[in-house]
Amino acid sequence: MKGIILSNYTDNPILEYTPDRNKPEPKANQVLIKNAFGTINPSDLMFLRGLYGIKKKLPVIPGFEGSGIIEEAGSEIKHLKKGDRVACVSSTGDGTWGEYMVTEETNCIPLLESVSLEAGSSLFVNPMTAWAMVHRALKDGHKGIVQTAAASALGKMVIRLCKEKNIPIISIVRREDQMKALDDIGAENVLNSSDPRFERELLVLSKKLNATYCIDAVAGEIAGKVLAIMPAKSTLLSYGALSEQAIPINAGMMIFQDKVVQGFWLTYWIMEIGIEQFHKEAAEVQKHMGTIFSTSINKIFPHEKAIDALEFYKQNMTAGKVLIGNG
Ligand SMILES: NC(=O)c1ccc[n+]([C@@H]2O[C@H](COP(=O)([O-])OP(=O)(O)OC[C@H]3O[C@@H](n4cnc5c(N)ncnc54)[C@H](OP(=O)(O)O)[C@@H]3O)[C@@H](O)[C@H]2O)c1
Repeated sequence: MKGIILSNYTDNPILEYTPDRNKPEPKANQVLIKNAFGTINPSDLMFLRGLYGIKKKLPVIPGFEGSGIIEEAGSEIKHLKKGDRVACVSSTGDGTWGEYMVTEETNCIPLLESVSLEAGSSLFVNPMTAWAMVHRALKDGHKGIVQTAAASALGKMVIRLCKEKNIPIISIVRREDQMKALDDIGAENVLNSSDPRFERELLVLSKKLNATYCIDAVAGEIAGKVLAIMPAKSTLLSYGALSEQAIPINAGMMIFQDKVVQGFWLTYWIMEIGIEQFHKEAAEVQKHMGTIFSTSINKIFPHEKAIDALEFYKQNMTAGKVLIGNG
């Protein structure tokens, strides 16, 4: 089968296209999926460099998330059959950036007829993370949210979900064109961290909107600064480290202002709520794939051009998702 192969975890990962990797065979508890589209996410970029929370045995075809059609179901598979269209993730072995992969049944979400394979390729990771984090904010009693890297695919979902639930949200971006992109989806309270008025505006708005929960994908200086400016008793939920920098935190914030830093990883959240509950919540999320959880797709590359796809994605992250595959 076609795919791109990662052979080493290094800071400058070298990937090679292959037209003849062996097609994997499903075990009794696995399905064989003919991948339609593999998504490129920030987590994949970290994975290629060996910096992600999961390492796979090398050489391997990367790609955690995607969509495809079940080609074969192992003898213990209960709810899926040949021909089913699914959103899927790969936890071990070859992933979604090749023609085929095997995975467990719990790593597949059958797609509604109304959801295309393109859209389904971004169902698992970002929508479920946006859903989980906003619900965690509400469960913990917060009335308003602040988010960084707000022009990301996930950030836009958070904005639409908060609008639907009537939760005030302050969205932080780092460039003027990102403010425009968020304006286009009807976002309110968008702040540009590069603007000299940023700190003052965040101070005033976070107080006014009682925004005491920050979901942060950037880490580094901006995360520490945002938490410092937010009202007392605020929480910073760290779910991404796009800057790859440590978060400078003044202990006084935690001692005298009762501020808290927590982490979020979808993998742990699924373990926490259990796989059955996860599938129930995913079914609810999937109903809104065309609206709240829609992902704009910037470009699709065939497997032969997958290495170009990665470079293209790195240069154009805000413009929409880049997919690998032939549909
Ligand atoms: N913890 C979890 O379980 C989990 C699950 C899903 C996603 N995530 C995280 O969620 C985040 C967003 O994912 P996504 O797929 O929605 O991303 P995406 O659509 O690919 O977009 C990434 C965005 O981040 C911005 N960005 C990149 N580096 C930045 C930096 N140093 N400072 C500020 N902004 C920066 C990009 O803007 P530019 O155009 O300016 O580069 C772009 O708007 C990622 O960090 C991802 O790892 C975490």
